Amino acid sequence: MKHALRPTLLGALLLTATLSTFASCRGGISEDPPVHLVLDMDFQQKVKTQSKSEFYPDHRGMRLPVTDANGRVAVISRRPLPDPAMSNRDASNAFVTANPVPVSSEVLERGQKLFDINCAICHGYTGQGGNGVHGNGLVGRRWPVVIPNFHFQENKSEADNRVALLSEGEYFEVITNGKGTMPAYGPRIDVEDRWAIVHYIRVLQSLSR
Ligand code: HEC
Repeated sequence: MKHALRPTLLGALLLTATLSTFASCRGGISEDPPVHLVLDMDFQQKVKTQSKSEFYPDHRGMRLPVTDANGRVAVISRRPLPDPAMSNRDASNAFVTANPVPVSSEVLERGQKLFDINCAICHGYTGQGGNGVHGNGLVGRRWPVVIPNFHFQENKSEADNRVALLSEGEYFEVITNGKGTMPAYGPRIDVEDRWAIVHYIRVLQSLSR
């Protein structure tokens, strides 16, 4: 009888010990760092935003964009330019003011599509821009600076109408390299597509006349 009880008692003790071990895991407070079984990508060599880096001689973790010989941010196009005349510099590197892409309904449709995707968020679908309560773009409304209006306004000053009076080459330039707080779209939108957007800006402008 005595001998038969022993293993049962031992079993009960073991069970209690096991249960209490598990129970202590729940709701227990510990100063120790948590056990990190699956590391995922929590620990990796990386430079955090605005932090210092010993890797570069100037110790800037965040790098500046690559510039060309004129100190301007280099433009990366996803595919090679089909024709040098498509850029806003001609063979003699002179500034091209007129749109080199012939206008057609396909080009305008493409321009509209890309304008609506890339530009309307700040400039509004009509290109009237503005910010705050007068903002036409979802993001433009919250923009700290006034988003320019592409439309000529009779009652406004020359400075207010400056953007409406820019040449097509200048629109291309802004789309390509961005300006102020506007991001550059050169790396994202192909050359002909940028010219298609310029054609579409002209359509928008003609609608307000
Ligand atoms: C994230 C918001 C934003 C987006 C998206 C955006 N823009 Fe702008 N854009 C601005 C702001 C802000 C300015 C005013 C820049 C300044 O003068 O500092 C501006 C200015 C301009 C100007 C006037 C430049 C000048 O000479 O003053 C043109 C033209 C223009 N944008 C065209 C476009 C086109 C075309 C697209 C789409 C490919 C586009 N923008 C996308 C914010 C945006």
